[in-house]
Amino acid sequence: MKGIILAGGTATRLFPLTATTSKQLLPVYDRQMVFYPLNTLVKGGIKDILMIVAPDHSGQFLNLLGSLLKNHGVSIMFEVQKVPRGLADAFIVGETFIDDDNVTMILGDNIFEDDFGAQIKDFKSGGHIFAKKVSDPERSGVVKFDENGRVLQIVEKPKEWISDYAIPGLYIYDQRVCGAARTVKPSERGEIEITSLHNYYLELGELTVSKCEGEWLDAGTFDSLLEASTIVKQKELRKNFHPIINQAIAEFNEELKNICKKRLL
Ligand code: TTP
Repeated sequence: MKGIILAGGTATRLFPLTATTSKQLLPVYDRQMVFYPLNTLVKGGIKDILMIVAPDHSGQFLNLLGSLLKNHGVSIMFEVQKVPRGLADAFIVGETFIDDDNVTMILGDNIFEDDFGAQIKDFKSGGHIFAKKVSDPERSGVVKFDENGRVLQIVEKPKEWISDYAIPGLYIYDQRVCGAARTVKPSERGEIEITSLHNYYLELGELTVSKCEGEWLDAGTFDSLLEASTIVKQKELRKNFHPIINQAIAEFNEELKNICKKRLL
């Protein structure tokens, strides 16, 4: 299983904060946002990770993550997505990296409380996505179930209510996703939608969905960014971090302090 963190995009809803850095490098409580999706992948047992970043602030990602986990058995590679063509583009930009393997893709601004280790480790083939009951499902892809819990329909940002279950930004697919992504036509808003990929596997009868019970935060607006920091602090989500990430952050901080001291001497 390989992992992709999709951390490009334009983050227009967070202008002007994102004029000088990437959304995923903004702080959520005491650490950069990107550490949360990184933690979800590492806790899922993934050791081979691709960061997809936008051109503007790509060097900042390299400074933070370029060597961070190399002594902890986790490889982080980088690809630049020149144009934010949509979420499904992760599997076109990441095709060489994915090669013949399965892949878990997570959005760089999504924060999860749950541990997905079991679903990631048990995954064999097809597609596996998650569903979270929310009060505002129309903001994301939405999944409708029948009374037996079978998936009936998946719609991107439905104009009319079909279900309360939104699809959070964590997706597990087999290698066929790369070929499927290449066939997706841009939607009305000009993006190649990940919903088309869920529907590709749904039509093959190879899509499974599990419910996401814990907190799911998408830190893409001023309010949700603030809320994310508050919830992370209140629920002490830092305790969910894998020890190797906490250790790597501590080592990184120590190294920075030493560099600062030397500069002052
Ligand atoms: P969005 O929040 O949908 O888009 P955005 O980050 O560009 O923000 P805004 O709507 O405010 O302009 O993106 C969700 C995540 O996916 C986020 O981590 C950015 C990433 N992303 C890409 O890396 N490439 C893309 O082409 C798109 C659409 C998003």
